[in-house]
Amino acid sequence: MRNIDLQDGQGGQVVTSFLPRSHNKDQTLPGTVPAVEDVTITDQLFGAKRDLRVIVIGAGASGLNFFKRAEEQAENLDIVCYEKNADIGGTWLENRYPGCACDIPSVVYQFPWRPARWSQFWSYSEEIWGYLKLVEQENRFIEKYVELQHQVEALSWSDKNAKWTVSVHDVQRDLRFEDHADVVINCTGVLSNWKWPAIPGLQTFRGTLLHSAAWDSSVSLKGKRVALVGAGSSAVQILPSIYEDVDKIYTWVRSKIWITGNFSQTFTRADGSNYQYTDEQQKIFDDSSHDEYLAYRKMVEEPFNRRFEFIVNGSEAQQNTFDYCNEHMRSSLQTRPDLIEKIVPTDFYVGCRRPTPGYGYLQSLCASKTTTYTDSLKTITEKGFIDPEGNEQEVDVIICATGFDTSFKPRVPLLVNGVDMRQKWAQDQHPPSYLSVALGGVPNYLISGGAYFPVAHGSFFPLIDSFCKYALKLIEKIQVDNIAWVAPNEMKTKQFLRHANTFLKRTAWNGPCSSWFKGGTVDGQPALYPGSRLSFMKLVENVRFEDYDIEYLDRENPFAFLRKGKHVCEEDGSDVTWYLGSTSDQTLKDTLRERMTAPESA
Ligand SMILES: Cc1cc2nc3c(=O)[nH]c(=O)nc-3n(C[C@H](O)[C@H](O)[C@H](O)COP(=O)(O)OP(=O)(O)OC[C@H]3O[C@@H](n4cnc5c(N)ncnc54)[C@H](O)[C@@H]3O)c2cc1C
Ligand SMILES: NC(=O)c1ccc[n+]([C@@H]2O[C@H](COP(=O)([O-])OP(=O)(O)OC[C@H]3O[C@@H](n4cnc5c(N)ncnc54)[C@H](OP(=O)(O)O)[C@@H]3O)[C@@H](O)[C@H]2O)c1
Repeated sequence: MRNIDLQDGQGGQVVTSFLPRSHNKDQTLPGTVPAVEDVTITDQLFGAKRDLRVIVIGAGASGLNFFKRAEEQAENLDIVCYEKNADIGGTWLENRYPGCACDIPSVVYQFPWRPARWSQFWSYSEEIWGYLKLVEQENRFIEKYVELQHQVEALSWSDKNAKWTVSVHDVQRDLRFEDHADVVINCTGVLSNWKWPAIPGLQTFRGTLLHSAAWDSSVSLKGKRVALVGAGSSAVQILPSIYEDVDKIYTWVRSKIWITGNFSQTFTRADGSNYQYTDEQQKIFDDSSHDEYLAYRKMVEEPFNRRFEFIVNGSEAQQNTFDYCNEHMRSSLQTRPDLIEKIVPTDFYVGCRRPTPGYGYLQSLCASKTTTYTDSLKTITEKGFIDPEGNEQEVDVIICATGFDTSFKPRVPLLVNGVDMRQKWAQDQHPPSYLSVALGGVPNYLISGGAYFPVAHGSFFPLIDSFCKYALKLIEKIQVDNIAWVAPNEMKTKQFLRHANTFLKRTAWNGPCSSWFKGGTVDGQPALYPGSRLSFMKLVENVRFEDYDIEYLDRENPFAFLRKGKHVCEEDGSDVTWYLGSTSDQTLKDTLRERMTAPESA
């Protein structure tokens, strides 16, 4: 191609045009004779968003948020969501153990775009699920997008057709089928793959066996002898909630734990207990201008966003938090010096494992009906378990509050051009996470809450929302720029992880505690975002396409998206002088037309 200046013959106006090298100036229609080096130019507009099919897996908070933002931000997406459960809600549908609640205040544990009326400062599982269901119903999300009781069983990407093949099990009809998508959005949750603990004899137990994340609400614990295994956030909520009901409870705190005061002390009572909003306080939810409610939400949320410093090793905030929590635990356990010695951490800081504001937990540990063991539960029998002295203790119910598979490894086969990524990553502690939102070398695949997500402080909701906006920006780029696929470059992903792993050494998360942030290990690599949640939100405001490998649909011409030379805005009625700014009064043009027309000559 070359640049030719065409004079108008009068020595005046100059027209600049790009013509193929072979162009003969005598031709009346420049550029109509194709040359070998010419590329194909399609008769469409630059800016047009091509149709894409998007499969979302999971209809928890992340899935719902994606639908909402897609409706606001996106065009020409054909979205289908496969959800294995019989209803939406994920975490809050499944986790119904006694006392199950969020420990983040209700007004910040909600979609930023749908503030709601809450009954109390922290909400219990039922109320949170009710909120998610309300949002679903207000927006008719199931009707529009969700196939319930459809479990995704495998994913396979092929460069040949630039599509995912998604294997789905229609659980209700017991049918299996394949669906296809240009983009897959994995919203299957960080804490949704619960697992039984590997305790010998567990499955031989003849009484009632429960897991905190798969609770059977028909089971009554009244007057029962109960074994509660685990001392994570779930167990910490369960123990004080069932204590009054049970006849006897045995529990295991095999690792040291931080039980903190509550996370939002400005508004709560000194003892950290939950409270119902009064009728007067509830009026804030009805404020039609939403100003008061917004101001309140911001006041409750702000401290979470200023708290990152306590995670940074050597900081004053870290020492202050340690001193405060140390004092809190020691005073709460003062009647049990043996427990102080065994469970109060001395060699890792608060936040190393997820801190739990355990209202009533330490008191229940010390109470008369509780027997607390500080080593592992080694053997379960048909009737109960073997205690550390070697005696069998009989129980009616065993509750495993033993957590989830948090390896972040794909839970179903994930094939890319025939290569099984689960095998490829078998030796790695975590899959190659790119900023938590995608996986190195995996095309057109985005994850809400992947490894290295900033899960450790503050509410998930704003983070999920940031993820969804990011995903939609990336999808729009694929649509507009005529892209077949984008995948995080594998070297860039390694470089991100190297940075993250180096940074994480500076934080409490890397301390010698047992934590699901490290996949349930003591000395593993924490899979957390290397920074504050605000830093994450700022980072994902824009897609760093320089970190992605990109393949275009037209491999020879990455600029094919410029198409026939005109932009959509020239034909869709848009303001074509937008770059000058916009006037506040759109009718001004009409009034000005007459006033500013050239006056009649005198
Ligand atoms: C007990 C508990 C308390 C929590 N408390 C807090 C808190 O106080 N604050 C906070 O910020 N976070 C908390 N969390 C974290 C919580 O998980 C997130 O806040 C949020 O709910 C995650 O939403 P999600 O949609 O990403 O995932 P999930 O809610 O886990 O939803 C995932 C969905 O994917 C579906 N799914 C999974 N696999 C498949 C498949 N193969 N095919 C089809 N569907 C599939 C699941 O059925 C589920 O509906 C808590 C978690 C738990 C377990
Ligand atoms: N908002 C909330 O209040 C809330 C409530 C529940 C859950 N959550 C979220 O969900 C996450 C997971 O919480 P979780 O409590 O379900 O799981 P978790 O934090 O992983 O805790 C699991 C507990 O089970 C113990 N355990 C596992 N196997 C055991 C065995 N064989 N014998 C004895 N003990 C065993 C673990 O001990 P080790 O530590 O020694 O491995 C740990 O104490 C939380 O960190 C939090 O993010 C939040």
